[in-house]
Amino acid sequence: HSSLVFSSDDSASAASSMEVTDRIASLEQRVQMQEDEIQLLKSALADVVRRLNLSEEQQAMGSRRGPTKGNNEFMIQIYLSRSAKQRGTSGSPAASAVTSRSAASPKQTSESGRASVARKAGAARVPPVRKTPSFDLQLRKSGSLSSYSALDTPSYRSPLKSPKEGYVKMYLKGRPITMYMPKDQVDSYCLEARAELPCTKLKLDWVYGYRGRDCRSNLYLLPTGETVYFIASVVVLFNVDEQLQRHYTGHTDDIKCLAVHPDKITIATGQVAGTSSDGKQLAPHVRVWDSVSLNTLHVLGAGFFDRALVCLSFSKSNGGNTLCVVDDSNDHVLSVWDWQREDRLAEVKCSNESVFAADFHPTDSNIVVTCGKSHLYFWNLEKGMLVKKQGLFEKQEKPKFVLCVTFAENGDAITGDSSGNILVWGKGTQCSSQKVIGTNRISHVIQGAHEGSIFALCMLRNGTLVSGGKDRRLISWDGSYQQIQMVEVPELFGPIRTIAEGRGETVLIGTTKNFVLQGSLDGEFMPITQGHTDELWGLAVHPWKSQFLTCGYDRQVSLWDSSNHQLIWTKSMEVLLDAAQSAGFHPTGAVVAIGTQIGRWLVLDTDSKDLVTVHTDGNEQLSVMRYGPDGNFLAIGSHDNYIYIYAVAENGRKYSRVGKCSGHSSFITHLDWSVDSQYLVSNSGDYEILYWIPSVCKQVVSVETTRDIEWASYTCTLGFQVFGLWPDGSDGTDINAVCRSNDKSLLVTGDDFGKVHLFSYPCSQFRAPSHVYGGHSSHVTNVTFLYDDSYLVSTGGKDMSVMQWRIV
Ligand SMILES: *[C@@H]1O[C@H](CO)[C@@H](O)[C@H](O)[C@H]1NC(C)=O
Ligand SMILES: *[C@@H]1O[C@H](CO)[C@@H](O)[C@H](O)[C@H]1NC(C)=O
Ligand SMILES: *[C@@H]1O[C@H](CO)[C@@H](O)[C@H](O)[C@H]1NC(C)=O
Ligand SMILES: *[C@@H]1O[C@H](CO)[C@@H](O)[C@H](O)[C@H]1NC(C)=O
Repeated sequence: HSSLVFSSDDSASAASSMEVTDRIASLEQRVQMQEDEIQLLKSALADVVRRLNLSEEQQAMGSRRGPTKGNNEFMIQIYLSRSAKQRGTSGSPAASAVTSRSAASPKQTSESGRASVARKAGAARVPPVRKTPSFDLQLRKSGSLSSYSALDTPSYRSPLKSPKEGYVKMYLKGRPITMYMPKDQVDSYCLEARAELPCTKLKLDWVYGYRGRDCRSNLYLLPTGETVYFIASVVVLFNVDEQLQRHYTGHTDDIKCLAVHPDKITIATGQVAGTSSDGKQLAPHVRVWDSVSLNTLHVLGAGFFDRALVCLSFSKSNGGNTLCVVDDSNDHVLSVWDWQREDRLAEVKCSNESVFAADFHPTDSNIVVTCGKSHLYFWNLEKGMLVKKQGLFEKQEKPKFVLCVTFAENGDAITGDSSGNILVWGKGTQCSSQKVIGTNRISHVIQGAHEGSIFALCMLRNGTLVSGGKDRRLISWDGSYQQIQMVEVPELFGPIRTIAEGRGETVLIGTTKNFVLQGSLDGEFMPITQGHTDELWGLAVHPWKSQFLTCGYDRQVSLWDSSNHQLIWTKSMEVLLDAAQSAGFHPTGAVVAIGTQIGRWLVLDTDSKDLVTVHTDGNEQLSVMRYGPDGNFLAIGSHDNYIYIYAVAENGRKYSRVGKCSGHSSFITHLDWSVDSQYLVSNSGDYEILYWIPSVCKQVVSVETTRDIEWASYTCTLGFQVFGLWPDGSDGTDINAVCRSNDKSLLVTGDDFGKVHLFSYPCSQFRAPSHVYGGHSSHVTNVTFLYDDSYLVSTGGKDMSVMQWRIV
């Protein structure tokens, strides 16, 4: 399409490119709608096949179960005739009548919302009868939820009589979901009743993790004794000695940079552009806040910055009155702000390539140095303009990346680069002329200071320079750039991303494997914070200890103690080369099962972290691993649409395959066991709720059997007890995880917008209210209460953070 845009003449190009964009957008939308329709068709078809199969089986079993058989035949007949009728009318005037009827529906929709109750509607003995026609009609009216309520007409209900059937019907992405209420609620349940907010709230108690993988200069020690850094959209102020964390939670999406004011109290942090759950754009901006009170002082640049903020720095010589900022737009705009007056003093296109650092000269606040891919610039702020001088490499080979910059006491700039060299840029002569200060010529070279890239430089108070980089070495240099000491951090911790001066003789290091280490230049470094280094999904709580386990695509399985916030153990699954997807503890707590992305699953001993066993079922992602409450079975939900069942013996040490539950027409998303371990309920990617007798891998279709089952856990996102958690306009994929508290009073959910919601349980009223908590900056992949409901833990997908919330 680019040729289309570019071939049109200038005057027309703007308009036509608009048109093209619009057309593309509308085409994309249509493709999406068609995909949805195909998905619906597929699941409808699978539904039919499944029920045909069932009916054949039951026929084969003879007349002993006559009534059931009759029902099934009846159901399929209705389906077929209905379906045939509609297919016949498709495209005919009758079909358009259907469509226009749908178009007139909004009134009905708004009256009942997306959920319509059909308590007395009956015929529910054969739910698919109601379900199937809806599909067909959906295919014609592509998409809008409103089409359904309209089609859910009394005329269709009337032939179906069973006055005591009570269910709620909800529509997700056009797909009807019928959820039966327990029998004893049929008479008393009222859809219009208002649900109550829970009287308890959540308070962020602990954040596990640090973002070192792709952020720089983001670790400092404050005079309060707290180490400050960030992960996701939370700034963590961590007092290591007292093992206390405080959190600044003013941001609404990923924080990418942090700067500490010379007063050591004021802090500036910058975030990326985001989208709120109601589709609003959240502009990238800088927040300036007080690290003692955690109060926000100023918010800068919303509407000015583009995409994200990548570098931030306070001036040093003028009382820290100015702040320089680089955004992540194509031009990486450098701007200088009077932050107290929220006034932009100057701006300039810094570079079309990545910028890694921007810092004020220590003695001249009119000079800003920036560096990045193939550049080092000295900017001079003159009368509202930023005037650029390039760093001249002259005889020195120009590095591909200039990665970091710091300053010597005398004002010399010192850079570290991708060739492993440290270059010193002389402050210039004693000449007092402003122009000469911040000169752009090399005055000293430490060739090959490191093997490979130098990511971090830090000038200590006593004039010692410390450098660190890809080679995991931390090297100190004296005032004449002679090497003093060198330590290498173990490979486990990864390359050195950032260096900060700690308390006394200590040094703090942030690594690219997301560790924060504390140590000294002549000794060992110990982690004070650690976390995951890739997308995080698996979360499991210990059945009787205050422990939980996390695992993800970094192939690390970690067991944490929630009471002292310590890592108990971590195990790398490098050998198995699988990304971990899910986890579940055996009810004795002796072992934990881990599901991976490629059908392999393994069981680890909780104490020794030894491998107990490895199995493979299918070759797709295993999204759920869940042991039955009696510990005798393990159910594994896979993306290949099956639930694999294993008999478990010897406290989780022996496994034998019972079979697989086949019937879902899309991937398994969630499953739960009944309290008596006799039944399973499962949800799938196309919003089915199916019930099973796992010991024989049989589906249970009788509503009478399933509606009153008591569930040992509630992690399914679809069901009568929880349907109120679905927000208006949801497409059914934006709630990733649900968990009921053990005392059955609360329900927590994690959504695609980084939010954790706390509802009252049961959550069976439409649009139930919730307390909403931010902190994660990525989809919240799982949430769970600890065994005693003391805390709740959430995992943040791509933000790699684990957050622990206190229930207050
Ligand atoms: C039909 O049922 C049998 C027995 O439960 C099963 O083995 C078979 O795979 C099923 N077929 C389909 C298409 O679901
Ligand atoms: C930046 O500009 C240079 C020279 O104008 C060009 O060669 C380079 O490809 C550009 N880089 C990007 C990322 O656009
Ligand atoms: C400077 O400080 C570092 C870290 O505190 C220490 O290891 C080093 O010995 C000091 N150097 C001098 C010359 O005092
Ligand atoms: C999410 O958390 C629940 C509760 O601990 C757990 O049972 C479930 O297996 C977890 N899901 C994944 C994918 O690990």
